[in-house]
Amino acid sequence: MNTLSEEKVFRDPIHGYVRVQDKIIWDCIQTREFQRLRRVKQLGSTSMVYHTSEHSRFAHSLGVYEIARRMINEVNDISKALTEYEKITVKLAALLHDVGHAPFSHSFESIMQSDHEIYTIQIIKGESEVNTLLKAYRDSLPDDVASVIDGTHPNKILCQMVSSQLDADRMDYLLRDSYFSGTKYGEFDLERILRTMRVADDKLVIKASGMHTIEDYIMARYHMYWQVYYHPVSRSYDTLLQKVFQRLFDLYNEENNIVEKLPMFKALLEKNILSNEEMYLLDDSTCFYAFNLMSQIDDAILSDLAKRILNRNLFKYSTVDKKEEMKRRCLEKGYDLKYYLHQDYQSQNPYKPYSRRAQCIWVLEDDGSIKELSTVSTIVSSLSQNDSYEDEKIFFPKEIL
Ligand code: NI
Repeated sequence: MNTLSEEKVFRDPIHGYVRVQDKIIWDCIQTREFQRLRRVKQLGSTSMVYHTSEHSRFAHSLGVYEIARRMINEVNDISKALTEYEKITVKLAALLHDVGHAPFSHSFESIMQSDHEIYTIQIIKGESEVNTLLKAYRDSLPDDVASVIDGTHPNKILCQMVSSQLDADRMDYLLRDSYFSGTKYGEFDLERILRTMRVADDKLVIKASGMHTIEDYIMARYHMYWQVYYHPVSRSYDTLLQKVFQRLFDLYNEENNIVEKLPMFKALLEKNILSNEEMYLLDDSTCFYAFNLMSQIDDAILSDLAKRILNRNLFKYSTVDKKEEMKRRCLEKGYDLKYYLHQDYQSQNPYKPYSRRAQCIWVLEDDGSIKELSTVSTIVSSLSQNDSYEDEKIFFPKEIL
């Protein structure tokens, strides 16, 4: 009953096949909350730069599950260290880790002022098809899956597999986003990582012979952030998204009848936290239909910003020292600075030796001792010496130049 009579597979360009043997995993994929992920792109704004980055959260979530499944099946130590119930728990956590993701990657999170993890936990623990399914398996399963995702599960190996600095999530998104963007920056040797993964001292560790592969993985992360995720053109698109919603909220607060014209955003405008049902209805297609409607609305700013999003008429960018000049130019051309001048700061650290939340990476030396990665790798040590790598830019309409 717990195992499918025949293995099911999904074709996948990163993993070849995503293999499903457990009935509960198969059933979970069929839930409406998981199927919604087909309608949410993994990288909202990146396709404005790398136009083939059109893959979905659905594909990524299956990929994270597949890596977690392979860790269990191929790393003997993990297979021995986990109970059957823990194996199901961690596979479900991998599959569901992004189930509460809003449209447009992380740019929407600043608009909603809450992150996707809150919604992921709310869907797993609250009223949903996912919750019903998990509870039917065992009453404690929703809480246990949620605790792996938020990193509080008592068995730290499970948390390391799904939410650490070397987890199935990061490994899948680096490979997948790299592949679909048509770049090579995110590539690293997943096979070698799986071969050198062990459990020692109740931790996931990498054998010293696999350390160079881990260095490669950290470098992949560093390059992907600056070449893909934080690309200025993609940040320009994110800026427009933030501004269009800022205008929408401002109109709503002025008691404009905007909700009647954009009923799909009623809950977003009126509430701090959306219900699972309201979240279910919020996907990429909802937003693009709304932008179409906004482009025809009789508010010059809202319709202009919406048209810019639809037609990729993006803001230009410059260094922050040009801010006063761009401000003056915006004002001369009659642009409202609140919506047409934006300062954006991004920072990233490819690896943090000390992090409470995202556990660090451990290396198993030949003598059996366990060392934190940056103490044995000079490459990682020099990459993590800076507090973070940062970049600040200002964004403005090209019409002012
Ligand atoms: Ni993810």
